[in-house]
Amino acid sequence: MFFSKKEAKYSIKGEVVLVTGALGAIGRRLAIRLVNSGAQVALVDILSETEGAKFCEEISNGTALHVAAYLKADLCDIREIERMVEWADEQFGKVDVLVNNAGIASPNMLYDGESGDRISMMLKVNLLAPIEAMRVFVKYIQNGADDGRKGVVVNMASMGGLMPNRGGEVYGAAKAALIHITRASASLAPLVRISAVAPYYVNTPMVLNNPKLKNNKTVYPSLMLSVDQVCDATIRCICDTRAGGKIFALIGTWTYASMWLYDFAALQIKILAVWSLFTLSIYRLLGIAKD
Ligand SMILES: NC(=O)c1ccc[n+]([C@@H]2O[C@H](COP(=O)([O-])OP(=O)(O)OC[C@H]3O[C@@H](n4cnc5c(N)ncnc54)[C@H](O)[C@@H]3O)[C@@H](O)[C@H]2O)c1
Repeated sequence: MFFSKKEAKYSIKGEVVLVTGALGAIGRRLAIRLVNSGAQVALVDILSETEGAKFCEEISNGTALHVAAYLKADLCDIREIERMVEWADEQFGKVDVLVNNAGIASPNMLYDGESGDRISMMLKVNLLAPIEAMRVFVKYIQNGADDGRKGVVVNMASMGGLMPNRGGEVYGAAKAALIHITRASASLAPLVRISAVAPYYVNTPMVLNNPKLKNNKTVYPSLMLSVDQVCDATIRCICDTRAGGKIFALIGTWTYASMWLYDFAALQIKILAVWSLFTLSIYRLLGIAKD
């Protein structure tokens, strides 16, 4: 699937969007863009109520309308996730979209300085939390399906989940699993349309302040993305009815086209699999043993 760079012809006006990791670099910008487009945002992060309230006030921009609400929650605690969806529904009367954006990287190398606790936390925030959020959200949509309720989920994955790299093993493994579950959820559409965005490095503190990435040869400044590019792709995922089960790899200015490369790689694997089955059958037919 290929996104055109033309202005999208959709509206998210009146939609209620739940964003996790909402006080981070991408979360904040996404929340602002959504509110400016007429959506209401239910924001969740582990940071303090004070910080959340300050940001809600900032993005409400003096309007008396209830456009933003904040919940402090630690997504490592699975019980907080059910509460998060209930809370968002209480705040706005419905939840249309879930953006699983919260994520953490590690400043340490797996085989040099990483700790078991940090590994466990990375798997919880980057993988278990979005999986549980999807399960709870899908149940919420199914419960309202008779009244016409429909939903959309966008998972914030990473290029690290498509291309293994030394130093990002655990982060990449969590994102790869998130990509896997996104693709496996394609058939839930059109009731719940689940897709994912997989950006290359983004110009954010997560990258700029990570000592592990300084002088790292896999970080090409010319391919680095802006936060707005990631928000563009996320908003398009929310609105594009063809997006179910798709992963949108973002790299440099190839923002939307690079999905092609990923699909091409997947196609190559499928062709190879069919070819090996074919040759195996021929060998069997001819009675030739093949290890
Ligand atoms: N920055 C990049 O280069 C990059 C590249 C690819 C993918 N991503 C993904 O994009 C997403 C956002 O990244 P970002 O650059 O904005 O990072 P960020 O660190 O600025 O934001 C992440 C937010 O998640 C919150 N969070 C962390 N642990 C939490 C927990 N237990 N419970 C609730 N909230 C928690 C943090 O408080 C923070 O506000 C992440 O999922 C990240 O993996 C980022």
